[in-house]
Amino acid sequence: MLNWIEERTGGISALKNFLTEDVPGGASYWYTFGSATLIALVIQIVTGIFLTFYYAPSASTAWESTKFIYDHVTGGAFILSLHFWGASAMIALMTVHLLQVMIWGAYKKPREVMWVIGVVLFLLTLVLGLTGYLLPWDLNAFSASQVSINIAGNIPPPAFGMAQKYFLQDGTQMGTLTINRFFGIHVWLVPIMLLGLVGLHLAVFRHNGAAGPPADQTPKKFGRFYPDQIFMDTLASFLVFAVVVCLAIWMPAPLLAKADPTNSQFVPSPAWYFFPLFGLLQKLPGQMGPISGELVGTAVIPALGVGVLLLLPWIDRNRKRALNQRPYFILLTFISVAVVGIFGWIGAASITDHIKQSGGAGQTPVRGYGAPPVGAEEAAAATAAAPSGPVARGQAVYSQNCASCHGAAGGGTPNLAPPLDGNPFVAGDPAKIIAVVNGGLHGQAVMGKSYTTPMPAWKGTLTPSQIADVISYIRGSWSNHASIVTVK
Ligand code: HEC
Repeated sequence: MLNWIEERTGGISALKNFLTEDVPGGASYWYTFGSATLIALVIQIVTGIFLTFYYAPSASTAWESTKFIYDHVTGGAFILSLHFWGASAMIALMTVHLLQVMIWGAYKKPREVMWVIGVVLFLLTLVLGLTGYLLPWDLNAFSASQVSINIAGNIPPPAFGMAQKYFLQDGTQMGTLTINRFFGIHVWLVPIMLLGLVGLHLAVFRHNGAAGPPADQTPKKFGRFYPDQIFMDTLASFLVFAVVVCLAIWMPAPLLAKADPTNSQFVPSPAWYFFPLFGLLQKLPGQMGPISGELVGTAVIPALGVGVLLLLPWIDRNRKRALNQRPYFILLTFISVAVVGIFGWIGAASITDHIKQSGGAGQTPVRGYGAPPVGAEEAAAATAAAPSGPVARGQAVYSQNCASCHGAAGGGTPNLAPPLDGNPFVAGDPAKIIAVVNGGLHGQAVMGKSYTTPMPAWKGTLTPSQIADVISYIRGSWSNHASIVTVK
């Protein structure tokens, strides 16, 4: 059967080639970051597809459907939280993968193309993080995305910034169209580009072979991809998966109250991987020569950083890979990592500070990690909704049985029913009004006017306690201030 498949597809020899690929210097756990990133991507695709089964992108359903996933979908909270933590895992692993390729010198000839594709993959993943951040449409999703959209809108020339902002929002303000646009970018545009480029990244990897340890001589020892490296890759991937599962169980993704465009009190926080940029913005002066500090922090420095990364194989012309042959490069890399880390720390501290100053308004989630137990909240809502006390119960009886004639505010309806508000009879002798509501009334002039319709008798239609409640309500409502009545 294997022969049959081989003859028709060449699949078996392709698989053999794939598995017997040489690993220079032998298999190593150092090489597992790339495949672990790939596993994180697979987690994101699988959980993401599941989420699209329930998520509904519009201003009136985005938050509601996310909450629905929490409350009514079996395993929904878990899958949502896997997606939430998987995003962080993917970005963290990809960062380590990138750093390792830098330090190992694996971006050098002939692996320049692979490196450039890798940097683009990194940027695309950040776009996924940004667009996914908006989708739950809670307070933080809305406010944080507003900040990033405004940053895009401030990039000069003004016409370009405005066009970018208009494109991202799909209009002049954030709403349903914005959610749909971000959704489209998040689930179609970027994933398709990402998958295509991941395929290319791996194909070019196969073409060049593994770079091996940072040495200038080709190592004498060779390992095989199968079974050594594949075993290590599987183990590392499994570890990543286990960590993400634990986080999803113990710290489910937080969902705050629904987005509220009028809430200017709320302090948004970006995803942790944007902390360094946020910290940088805090430290830059308002004006730097001809351009604003904000522009330097949000456009100039990031663009320079990306430019240096993309062109790294051509900026660093040193052919050597051994670590001791490239002391300055290694030193520079470590300094860069330290600087990014320090700005990240500044950013995190400044966000914590801002939130403290705002009194933490709106920061308590309604679902997920840090939210009060669902049962308690529901019970509180139920007691708030169920009327208690004769007046509150009476209001319900009134709006169902009396408001159609006497008006919701007791003002009466001309030629149909007299006003009860400010009516001395209503506020007067309880025995008489009980008699009227029980037995009805017809042909009496009320406050100088006669009515052709009769006042129905309510005894038998309403229970005695409902009658007592509704009378208590009309005697104590609007401008009436008479005592309540009770069933004897
Ligand atoms: C079909 C319309 C209609 C509905 C429904 C209705 N009423 Fe009346 N009600 C009247 C009319 C008409 C009068 C005046 C009858 C008359 O003048 O003979 C009246 C009179 C009264 C009076 C006496 C006011 C006075 O000054 O003499 C009270 C009290 C009253 N209604 C309470 C209620 C309450 C409580 C309910 C609900 C349980 C209710 N009504 C539902 C039409 C209605």
